[in-house]
Parts: sequence; C-alpha cells; structure tokens
Amino acid sequence: MKILITDYDFPDLELEQALYRDAGIEVATAQCRTEDDVIAAARDCDGLLVQYAPVNAKVFAACPRIRIVSRYGAGFDTINTGDAAAYGVWVANSPDYGVGEVATHALAMTLALLRHLALYDRDIRNGTWHFGSPGKLQRVSDMTLGILGLGRIGKRMAHIGRNSFKRVIACDPYIIDGDFPAYVERVSKEELFAQADAVSLHVPLSDDTRGIVNAALLERMKPGSVLVNTARGAVVNIGDLLAALDAGRLDGAALDVLPSEPPATDARIVQHPRVLLTPHAAFYSVVAEKELRHKAAQNLIDWMQRGRPSYVVVEGKAEPLAQLP
Ligand code: NAI
Repeated sequence: MKILITDYDFPDLELEQALYRDAGIEVATAQCRTEDDVIAAARDCDGLLVQYAPVNAKVFAACPRIRIVSRYGAGFDTINTGDAAAYGVWVANSPDYGVGEVATHALAMTLALLRHLALYDRDIRNGTWHFGSPGKLQRVSDMTLGILGLGRIGKRMAHIGRNSFKRVIACDPYIIDGDFPAYVERVSKEELFAQADAVSLHVPLSDDTRGIVNAALLERMKPGSVLVNTARGAVVNIGDLLAALDAGRLDGAALDVLPSEPPATDARIVQHPRVLLTPHAAFYSVVAEKELRHKAAQNLIDWMQRGRPSYVVVEGKAEPLAQLP
C-alpha cells in the first residue's frame, strides 16, 4: 500500500510518517498545487492525504489505483465529491478536531470588530489616543448575533456568544427545529441579514453557498453592522462586500478565509481600513493541529485495515487490496 500526501503547510510530517510506518504503509510527499501536479505524483498510489490540492475526475481517470482521499480539515470543497462517487472512491475528512478553536476565533473577530480593537490599535500607533477616534460604539449586550449555518461550529458559536449578546438568531434550512438550541431563534436568510448586528458565517462551500453573501443580502444589513467569515472565502462576493464597506453600510468585516489564499498584499480587501484579516488560522491551536493531522491520516489506515475510514464524506465502492497486519 502506498499513499501520497499531496500538499501540506505543517512544519514537518513526522506525526503522519510515524503512523504510517507503524501501519506498514509507504508514504510519498509532494507540494501539489494543480490536478496535473497530483497526477504526476500519485500514479502509483492507492490513497491521497490532501490539504489544499484539487482532486477531481481528471485525477481519478489518470490514477485509477486511487481508492480513497482523506482531507486535512472539516471542509472538503477542494475534492469533487460527485466525481469521487462516480469513480467509487471513498472521501473522508476530519470534522471535529477544532470546533472550539473556530468558534472562539469567530467570536473573537466579532467582538474585535464591535469594540473597534484593530482600529484603536492602528490609531494609537499613528499618534491618536482617544476613545472616540474610530467612531461610535454601541452596547454589545443590546445587539443580535446572527449565524448562517448552525452545524458543529455554528452551534458552538451560538453557545459561547449568547452571554455577550441580547439575542441569537440563526438560519439553517437543513436541520430540524429540534436541532436548534432553545436560546437560538430560527429565522430565514433574509431576516438574518436584516435583524443581526453581527453576522457570522458557518456554512460549507458548495454550489448552494458559493457567493451566497452578495449585494442583495448585504443591502439588507443594518447600518453599522459587521460581517465575520471563518467558513470559506468564496461564500462571500468580495466585490459586493467592498462596496458595502465603502458605502458605510457595514462598519467592518473580519475574514479568516478569502476566495484566493494567500491574497496579493496590494489587493483592495487587504488594504481596506475596515477589514480585519487572519491567515486561515481559525482552526489553529497546537492541540487542534495535532488532532487534525492524526484524524486525517488515520482515515487511510482505518480504510486499509477495516475497509472504512472513521469520518466518511462519500461512501466508496473500493475495497482495500490487502488486509494489513
Ligand atoms: P457542519 O457540516 O457541521 O455545519 C454546516 C452547517 O451549514 C450544516 O448544519 C448545514 O445544514 C448548514 N448549511 C449548509 N448549507 C446552508 C445554507 N445554504 N444556508 C444555511 N445553512 C446551510 O460543518 P462545521 O464543522 O460547522 O464547519 C463549517 C465550515 O467551516 C466547514 O465546511 C469549513 O469550510 C469551515 N471551517 C473553517 C475553518 C478555518 O480554519 N477557517 C476550520 C474548520 C472549518
């Protein structure tokens, strides 16, 4: 059995290599950016462990030995799941390693915007020391927190946010009423954007959600409200967001994710004074990174030993060729 780690931005791969050494699995490593890079590196591999590299029908057609793809992370939008299902390839992810980290990061970003932290810091460094320098502040405990996508992370955000805000509302058409905590009010997407003082995005990137936050929704937001995105960059139409910020409709936006990462340093979104950015870091803590890597790597071992990864996104058809010790 041989697997390819298609790409990674961890300082080393010692954790993965130790796991695979113990399981008797051979490992190749690469830094693939495109499907062609993956194809060139994965021809003789049975499985892929992927961070950001794209994987789709082109890869499955060129590398027919591949029978399982595991992604480092909860989101799996870089893997074409329809193509994987068509080729009978298993897809796995690691959904629950950093729920607390992402929710905490989203709440930290929300409160940083609502309390103007980055703006005060910038003003002080430019010589201004005054509580009113970046504009008026309203009382957070009078405000409504809005959550789009009430899954693992959205629910945790609601839970840790509810003591700071007066009200928590959420939109998630795919879960039943009983899955809404008692302290979260169910609203439509349109009501969410119209009523919330802070909207936090926690939806996966899919055909449904690509560009879902557009001019039509942003125009509904209250003057002075803020938007926080720790989900995926392409969920927000960046041109429409910049227009809403320039028009003074939004007081600020905090983005951990962008449609293209890393962005050019001279990009408007990077230079905008009312945008707070972090480098796709919401998932990160020392413990979460370790858990992420362990769970994503273990999916391949579980499949090879038991015929099924621990965290299934797409139920594949392929059986492991050999049972491992
Ligand atoms: P989840 O699958 O538990 O929850 C997603 C929720 O979104 C589900 O309840 C689903 O019903 C809902 N949803 C789907 N389409 C929707 C729509 N059109 N409108 C409203 N709700 C919709 O996923 P989880 O674990 O909460 O993660 C959410 C996303 O966060 C991931 O897909 C990933 O892209 C992102 N993420 C970002 C990280 C970072 O470091 N910035 C780290 C981990 C996850």
